[in-house]
Amino acid sequence: MLQILTNIFIFMVGLALLTVVIMYVIDKTQTSHAVRRNFPVIGRFRYIFEEMGEFFRQYFFALDREEMPFNRAQRSWVYRAAKGVDNTVAFGSTLNLSPPGTPIFVNCPYPTLDEDAAPTKPMTIGPYAREPYEARSVLNVSGMSYGAISKPAVLALSNGSRMAGNWMNTGEGGVSPWHLEGGADIVFQIGTAKYGVRGDDGGLDDDKLRAVAAHATVKMIELKLSQGAKPGKGGILPGGKVTEEIAKIRHIPAGHDSISPNRHPEIDSAEDLLDMINHVREVSGLPTGFKSVIGAYGWLDELFEEINRRGVESAPDFITVDSGDGGTGAAPMSLIDNVGLPLKESLPLVVDMLNEHGLRDRIRVIASGKLINPAEAAWALCVGADFINSARGFMFALGCIQALQCNKNTCPTGITTHDKKLQRGLVPEDKAERVRRYSETMRKEIGIIAHSCGVPEPRRLKRFHCRIVQDDGRSVPLNELYPDVEPRELH
Ligand SMILES: Cc1cc2nc3c(=O)[nH]c(=O)nc-3n(C[C@H](O)[C@H](O)[C@H](O)COP(=O)(O)O)c2cc1C
Ligand code: SF4
Repeated sequence: MLQILTNIFIFMVGLALLTVVIMYVIDKTQTSHAVRRNFPVIGRFRYIFEEMGEFFRQYFFALDREEMPFNRAQRSWVYRAAKGVDNTVAFGSTLNLSPPGTPIFVNCPYPTLDEDAAPTKPMTIGPYAREPYEARSVLNVSGMSYGAISKPAVLALSNGSRMAGNWMNTGEGGVSPWHLEGGADIVFQIGTAKYGVRGDDGGLDDDKLRAVAAHATVKMIELKLSQGAKPGKGGILPGGKVTEEIAKIRHIPAGHDSISPNRHPEIDSAEDLLDMINHVREVSGLPTGFKSVIGAYGWLDELFEEINRRGVESAPDFITVDSGDGGTGAAPMSLIDNVGLPLKESLPLVVDMLNEHGLRDRIRVIASGKLINPAEAAWALCVGADFINSARGFMFALGCIQALQCNKNTCPTGITTHDKKLQRGLVPEDKAERVRRYSETMRKEIGIIAHSCGVPEPRRLKRFHCRIVQDDGRSVPLNELYPDVEPRELH
């Protein structure tokens, strides 16, 4: 009897070991789950816990809408959209509609019929540039530098963006071969260190800029004044992430922290900013704009007055308004948390100031900051944005699990690490499809909100289509909170 039990035990242990080995081989060789590829067998627990989390949390842990910076409901929506699985929910909304700031869209009794729905037309950016850009998608990939993110992440984003018809912003790390290989439309960002177009004196090298602009897929240039996560501080790439290749692209020494100045030394006024924009546009021939998080805003008045003095041709072709609570690879907590206005305040402010100065049709507005689900993007379009940029939405599409280690070199999903072993988990071909699906599903569902409000396409959404919940629990339409502003001449 004892012998039989011993044999059964040995058989069971052997079977368990064999199962583990088989799981190991399957996990290591499959291409769609980065965590399982990087952490075979044990990585499976994450997916099991994710599945069961809903039930556990119901009794013990955080609620669906509690985690920061993005809660589980927001992230799950992106994961499902990216995987192309059913994104409907059952039984009823888990969103608490009482907190002040919650947007509620006003559906109309006669929504747009499917046959009356219109595709969002491409929008021209930079009519006075030698090569204006016809931007096809309302949703696009926000700046994330090659360096902050990995080669497979850049490849997946670029390929997915090409398939989805959206642009991809390089971030401040220069154009890498991987941006070009994917074939997406590229917005080249000039950061304060001017990586990729940097002269020996640290200033802008016109020949290098011409060479970047000569790539057929480079469509626009974005001058970065600041980003929401670290206003008043330049980009930071920890030395551990400055590989030989990244150092070569940026023209900096490998292995040392790569720290950009906190502003472009040559830009210190509205005049300087316009001079620089016009110079870059002239040299590159491409539409040129700038990105900034808004804090103080008197400078925008000065800038817009100066544009009207010089003529509208001199204007930036777009302004990217980044939320004060924006994302980044690495930044001091005090800046991430407490400096710069959140988008809900800065976006209406910038749109209204452009209207006031009669520049709303000349300068396109791109909004970024936590616009990772359709409702948030639709809110920005109601307020007056022409385009939405998302960084972290696309990171979730790539498989980001919000492990919050982007500033180290240990990202478990291969997105923000240059550790080859961890990068192996991110298979660009598979994740490019997810990027495409996420982009397309976002556009489709923003369209569904627009149709519910009775307009044929997202850019027809207006402020009166969205109400915002106030302190007393009642909602007020955006057009009452931010009434339309007439151009100054008409006052
Ligand atoms: C990993 C990472 C790298 C980033 N790198 C840059 C950069 O090089 N230049 C820049 O202007 N913004 C950079 N950002 C900020 C994003 O472009 C964006 O403005 C910000 O994350 C807010 O958008 P989101 O909420 O969609 O992420 C980065 C963000 C992340 C998460
Ligand atoms: S998984 Fe974590 S470390 Fe990797 S990109 Fe996402 S938040 Fe950053």
